[in-house]
Amino acid sequence: MARIYIKTYGCQMNERDSEQVAQMLVARGHVLTSHEDEADVVLLNTCSVRDLAEQKALGKMGMLGALSHQRPVVYGFLGCMAQSRGESLLQSVPHLNLVVGTQKFHRVAEYVDEALSQQATQPQDLGGFSRTDDLRFSIVDVEEEACSQNSIRDHSLATAQVSSFVSIMQGCNMHCTFCIVPFTRGSERSRPIQEIVKEIRSLVSRGVKEVTLLGQIVNLYGRHEFPQQDGKSPFVQLLEAVHEVSGLERIRFTSPHPIGFKCDLVEAFARLPKLVEHIHLPLQSGSNPILKRMHRTYTAEKYLALVDSIRDRYPEMAITTDIIVGFPGETEEDYSKTRELVDRVGFDNAFVFKYSTRKDTPAAEMADQLPEPVKEERNHDLLNLVNSWARRRGEPLVGREIEILCEGPSKTNPDRLMGRTRGNKIVVFEGSERHLGQLFPVRINRSTGYTLYGDPAIFS
Ligand code: 5AD
Repeated sequence: MARIYIKTYGCQMNERDSEQVAQMLVARGHVLTSHEDEADVVLLNTCSVRDLAEQKALGKMGMLGALSHQRPVVYGFLGCMAQSRGESLLQSVPHLNLVVGTQKFHRVAEYVDEALSQQATQPQDLGGFSRTDDLRFSIVDVEEEACSQNSIRDHSLATAQVSSFVSIMQGCNMHCTFCIVPFTRGSERSRPIQEIVKEIRSLVSRGVKEVTLLGQIVNLYGRHEFPQQDGKSPFVQLLEAVHEVSGLERIRFTSPHPIGFKCDLVEAFARLPKLVEHIHLPLQSGSNPILKRMHRTYTAEKYLALVDSIRDRYPEMAITTDIIVGFPGETEEDYSKTRELVDRVGFDNAFVFKYSTRKDTPAAEMADQLPEPVKEERNHDLLNLVNSWARRRGEPLVGREIEILCEGPSKTNPDRLMGRTRGNKIVVFEGSERHLGQLFPVRINRSTGYTLYGDPAIFS
């Protein structure tokens, strides 16, 4: 039995993959630890979407190398950076043992056991293989694996966990020119509807009330595998099937692509009450020439028309987004178009990213890469605008009673509880044990934009 420390970088998909790895390791008799300094096995599940995420994971792995001066430790990089950098990571990190890519999460537990047993056979005076480059034991597995989309399906739920991620597809074929995902996650593959529903039924039987369906372009789920039916896309068919699961209260999904966000999906929100009033709809840029160079295949006008059609139909819909500033060739005029669109839509929240050059992507080769200070300035300016809209979107909620699903203690103040509204706003409140995992109305007293504060309304 080994003590395993797993740290996850990046998106919800990575969190979900780590959960699967943890579940398999625990099933083999290992225990998880949140204390890195007592770990026998250190696994970093990595993100490659921006350079900063890679540097953080590399820095952490470098630092944790010191643990092996006291006792033998197995070190592994998993996921996206493992996939994109592969064997070369063994050169840059002398104590690294495992490099396991995104299609091989289901093999991690086996590789860890193999590494542990190899380590046990190493002479003690070498302190285990992890201390020396020459005698180091290593496994690199970044191959493709047929049907790997079906291997992320088991959950080890923490007690009282009421919300869970469900991976419905892997990979992406959209080839946005800035994006490394096609290299790290491979091409699109979707799981069958029945498999997903079975997984969700099992989650619900263990107390889960809310699921978030995950995919890189989640609304294009199943487009290569399953036919349209009665004018409904495979994704809408999946939503309908998931909606049938009794005991499930809320359905979220992330992230859709504006392309393929058709009427059948807009309509689904009216027909399927479990679908919450929140859409995360990545915009990336408000300038048409930049969108074109990004290979986003929609225009600012089309994006806006989609948002307007959603808002006309559902005035309560919370809309959030992702935006990249400082894409190669982005002029002041291009940037001001992004600013205008952000101001016109008035997002509930937005993640703003400075463009980060990713190896082998088409944008990395484009002329007119912008200097860091320009990216920095636009990032700062846009964040101010985004924050002011978040405050404006939060204000009208003050004084109202809104349903929340209580997830557990607040991260910033563990004496209080937190939950989320259907619109995905965090609500912090004074509560007690009986609120945990429950859906109930809260009266909102105050809003900072991203966080609301309230009191449970009459709840018996
Ligand atoms: N640089 C900056 N941001 C990026 N994203 C993806 N690739 C890059 C990159 N090279 C952002 C996009 C995407 C989010 C998950 O990360 O906005 O929607």
